[in-house]
Parts: sequence; structure tokens; C-alpha cells
Amino acid sequence: MTAAIDVSMPLPGAAFGATVRLTRPLRETMPEGLPQALADAGGLLLLPGLGEITADPRLLVTLSHLFGPEVEDYRHLLTRVTMVHDAVPEIFLVTNTVANARRPPDRPVPPLTPDGKFPVQYPQREGWHTDQSYRRPPPDISLFYAVVPVDRTRGQTLFASGALAYDALPPQLKAKIEDLQGLHAQPGTGRDRAAAIAGKMPRPFAPHERSQPQPVVRTHPVTGRKAIYVCEASQMDWFEGPFVGLEPGPHGAGAKLLDELMTHYTRPEFVYVHEWTEGDVLVWDNRCLIHTATWYDADTEKRLMWRTTVRGNPGALYEGEKPSWIPQAAE
Ligand SMILES: [Fe+2]
Repeated sequence: MTAAIDVSMPLPGAAFGATVRLTRPLRETMPEGLPQALADAGGLLLLPGLGEITADPRLLVTLSHLFGPEVEDYRHLLTRVTMVHDAVPEIFLVTNTVANARRPPDRPVPPLTPDGKFPVQYPQREGWHTDQSYRRPPPDISLFYAVVPVDRTRGQTLFASGALAYDALPPQLKAKIEDLQGLHAQPGTGRDRAAAIAGKMPRPFAPHERSQPQPVVRTHPVTGRKAIYVCEASQMDWFEGPFVGLEPGPHGAGAKLLDELMTHYTRPEFVYVHEWTEGDVLVWDNRCLIHTATWYDADTEKRLMWRTTVRGNPGALYEGEKPSWIPQAAE
């Protein structure tokens, strides 16, 4: 029996997304209508009240499998072992509760917009990216589950709709980026904007770490809608990019275009701010959205979130490609 779902669009305060309430627990039946709801909602679903996952984390993996053929096993992705769930290797830990955890982002400077609002727009708000865009083929969908969120007003996740932003581009900018490719870099390879501004030469790449070109305008393989597909400071290559064929570097024509695109992409009317409640699952489509995290006090607050990643339907452009991030010796 297929579980019924109750879909309410859009998400509060946003122009896209949907809240989906399940009529039966996940452990009894999986709601198979969710992928269609995700497509209809422009790539973002909030599923509140799924606290049953904390006691049975495999439910998150089973839920993830509804959205595509392959749920990544993080043991095979050169991921730090401490960041993977000890019993369920498809679950990546986003947390400050393990040793050497990544710190949350800093607060924006200044902390509020000139009219006193919570800032969402680049460059005041930083860190906007789509997951693992430095890999070809890139992943399709991420699921994020709140085991222990921090209190509201901190530790939010912000989303921007690449399709709404694309539709609102001026025609001349649409034409300029139509056939352009961005060069996406893996964080930690030393190709980020700050390193380029400081003039630090990046270390040589291992072949599987190379920055990867991706279309700036991506056509969604399910909906056929076009969306802007770019990231900012730490997930583009600021030595050879950020765009293929445009003047490279942190002060070139490519940088100017990236700043212009990202400022447009994150206009408040294209953004949703999620305040987390324990038991929330968010499902987002990396093919048509970007997201970013916000500050919380990692010295006094504990945060534990579980993430899974779904692959397998990147679109015809990637047909037949071998995964760029797998070392040759491991194949
Ligand atoms: Fe992310």
C-alpha cells in the first residue's frame, strides 16, 4: 500500500518548495509520491515530524532510495572516517560533536542588512554552493535530517532557487551564460578565492582531485527547466577559472561575472530560510538549487545533523562518464 502525502506549496516565506506531511510512519510504508512532489515544488521539500529516524537511521537511507538509484556510501569517497555514521555508512555527519569537526561559518559582517533584516544575499551572506559540484557527474539530491538542531535564529540552512533566478535574468545575461562553463574546485585543494587573492600557489592536483567544468545553465533532467548552476568562493577554481574561456583569477572578467550572477541568484525573493526543528527532513535538488549554512555558537551549543546523497540522474550531458573523483588505481 502506498502512503498518502499531504502537500502544501510553497514553503512559508518563499516562492518555491513544499511542506509534506506523511499520513503514516516511515517504518510502516514509504511515501512513493515524494519524487513527483519534489519536482512539482521546484526542488525543495520539508518533511517535519520524522523523529522515528533517530532510533532507526536506516529509514533515512530507505527514504533516500526513493529519489534515485544510488545512495552514496561515504566509506568509498575518501571521507574522514569520523564524519561517517558508525553503523550506517550512507550517513554523513554534519556536526560539532566529533573531534576536529568543521567550524560553522562566521556571522555576516555587518550582521544585519541596512534595513535591519536577516541577511541572505551574496556577498553579505557567503558559502553558497551546490553539493559536490567539483565531481562529474555531480550528485542529484541531498537529504538532511535534524537529530539535534540548535535553537532557532542560528544554524539555519538557506536555499536559493536556480530556476527562479534564471527566469528573472536580463536577456543579455541569459545569452552571455547560455553556453558557458564554470570550473568547480574541491574545497581543500587550494584553488579558492582567498588563496588566489593572497597569491598562494596551489599544490599539484592528484588526477581525481582536478577541478571540473560544469554548465552554468543546467537543464533539469526531470522537469526540463533551466537553472543557474554556480557556486562561490571555496567551490570554484580561482586560478584557472571561475569560468572556462573568460579572464581567470580573483579580479578578472570571470570574477566580475560570478559576483554579478551570485548577487542575482541570492536575491531575497529567490531564497528560503529554514529554521530547524528536531525530526525535520529536508530534501533538496542540487541540480537546481544552491544552499548555505549559518552561524551557531559551536563552543556552547551542540548540533548533529545527518546527510545522505543520491546520485544517478544527472542528465544526458553526463551520459557514459566515469566518476571523476575515483582514483584510477581504485577502479
Ligand atoms: Fe552543502
